[in-house]
Amino acid sequence: MVNSSRKRLVIGNWKMHGDSAFNSQLLAGLRTGIAQVQHCDVAVCVPFPYLYQTQSLLEGSGVSWGAQDVSQHEKGAYTGETAASMLADFACRWVLVGHSERRTYHGETDAVVAAKAAAALGAGLTPVVCVGETLQEQEAGQTQAVIDRQLAPVLALGAEALNRLVIAYEPVWAIGTGRSATPEQAQEVHAFIRSRLEAAGAGAVRVLYGGSVKGSNAASLFAMPDIDGALVGGASLVASEFLSIAAA
Ligand code: 13P
Repeated sequence: MVNSSRKRLVIGNWKMHGDSAFNSQLLAGLRTGIAQVQHCDVAVCVPFPYLYQTQSLLEGSGVSWGAQDVSQHEKGAYTGETAASMLADFACRWVLVGHSERRTYHGETDAVVAAKAAAALGAGLTPVVCVGETLQEQEAGQTQAVIDRQLAPVLALGAEALNRLVIAYEPVWAIGTGRSATPEQAQEVHAFIRSRLEAAGAGAVRVLYGGSVKGSNAASLFAMPDIDGALVGGASLVASEFLSIAAA
């Protein structure tokens, strides 16, 4: 499928970075710089405590925002958790679920990730479901098997749900390493993910690539037919660099 039918999407994942002063500069930079970006949805996923600040500074700017995680539960005695409805309360449009750092450091299983995606959809948010293999798995030729396993409970949510979410392919070996997948490597996995989505009745879902995306490699990644945008870590902390990815 040609990706001209799917609007490009570039999301910044700030991870655990920022403070009020830093964010205010970065968000102001995005607010002014977004004018140079066309034909691309641009968003930032910020730490929970800064959602209100982000909402205040981005409202009406054309840059949307979201969070980096969400509870699978609607409400209740879940100390430390954040409900999808709370994110919606701060006008979040997006929430990352199943980022590899959540899977690795917080033991999130494929089933929990799918439950979080369902909770996000239930509150009207768009979950960005992250999948990807480790270096060891890649070297063992298990990339497709790992992605199939990670996608299975998400695909089971059904076509109606799938058509309201986004998938991000982030090979763990490319995250924060400066070593991006080549466009061809990424395209191969994206085409595989697309085939699974198509079989589930959701071929038009956007599939983002993440892992050491910068201004200098974005255009070649985006030239691939099944790469619909990027999930950007480190480079999203510099407004000009992040916007140059969105403009690529
Ligand atoms: P980097 O862009 O810093 O490699 O991080 C990628 C990532 O994990 C985005 O979610």
